[in-house]
Amino acid sequence: MKAVAVIPKRPNSVHLAEIEKPKLEGSRDVLVEVLRVGACGTDREINNGEYGVAPNGSDRLVLGHENLGRIVEIGEKVTEFEPGNYVVATVRRPGGTSVYDKIGEQDFTTDHRYYERGISRLHGYMAEYYVENADFLVQIPQTIADVGVLLEPLSIVEKGLKQASDIQERMKVWQPKSAAVLGVGSVGLLAVVALRMRGYAVHGFGLDRREGYLNGELCEAIGSTYDSTAEISVADSVQKYGEYDLIFECTGYSPIIFDAMQSLNENGILILASVTGGSRTADKVPSDKINQAFVLGNRVMVGTVNANREHFEMGVKDLVLCEAMHPGWLGRMLTHKVAGLENFAEAFKILNNAGEYKAIKTYFEVKEI
Ligand code: BGC
Repeated sequence: MKAVAVIPKRPNSVHLAEIEKPKLEGSRDVLVEVLRVGACGTDREINNGEYGVAPNGSDRLVLGHENLGRIVEIGEKVTEFEPGNYVVATVRRPGGTSVYDKIGEQDFTTDHRYYERGISRLHGYMAEYYVENADFLVQIPQTIADVGVLLEPLSIVEKGLKQASDIQERMKVWQPKSAAVLGVGSVGLLAVVALRMRGYAVHGFGLDRREGYLNGELCEAIGSTYDSTAEISVADSVQKYGEYDLIFECTGYSPIIFDAMQSLNENGILILASVTGGSRTADKVPSDKINQAFVLGNRVMVGTVNANREHFEMGVKDLVLCEAMHPGWLGRMLTHKVAGLENFAEAFKILNNAGEYKAIKTYFEVKEI
């Protein structure tokens, strides 16, 4: 069968590979035909040779972690699914030695070697089929199958928000009202969704000016504001909107976090979700001021990566709710469809020039839903 693979650490090695179709081995295994696979910044970084590890014994890695598929066959001990069900598979597997791997909380692993399908040490979903243990599959209701490929990036947001609510239990009462989302690419727009579904007044920020910018239009269409940081800095925006109870950072531009740290309300929480692989530094950080505000205002900053099954399940609820409240909105995020894995070069061209293509989500349609 066809698959899209790279030779990790070799820049621009993406290619179409012919690999063996996987078969059920364990009694809890499920064979899934891939319908759609999203492509994101992580896939771009892997193809740039900056990230990604091949499985043991292989020199290549099949890419793809944002997925949607349909079940073809189930093992004899799988009772929760049947052929025909739509599913999304989670990304990280418990492969390490940390206690978190042992208790099914591998998204908190303390091991430096981690196991992620399509990213690190395990093949991914940019293929015609995959086999996975049922424990790592999440069922997608038919009504949201069309936008199910957005679940994996949404799960990243859901985990961040779950961390925030768990941490804020430190107070007897937390009644957050306003949130800022820094960076309204695909993850940022999904953060806008999840926060709007929770009733926050949401303020989205991006580099582009609002005029003709679909991401800005989508913010407004779901009841968020949108501002360009070319016109107003996040720190200055508090004059307009007040300080934020929660800030979700996903710009990929690390210096902005110092601006964000100065824009939080008392007891507020800043969630960092950008995997910044570069070597940028920030200068002129008003460290006394920031430190004092964090101490005197009980403010919090937390990093978050990956997502567990519960976060995917939270995401399913938000997709259903969003589709009911704003029909068609999520579908507008799916801007660039690439027909067939063999057109991988087109997908990577769009990924590498997302701004020029005005791409929000680029995805492969491997098979019709
Ligand atoms: C994926 C996460 C993963 C992270 C780091 C992201 O693109 O969505 O599941 O943990 O990359 O590898």
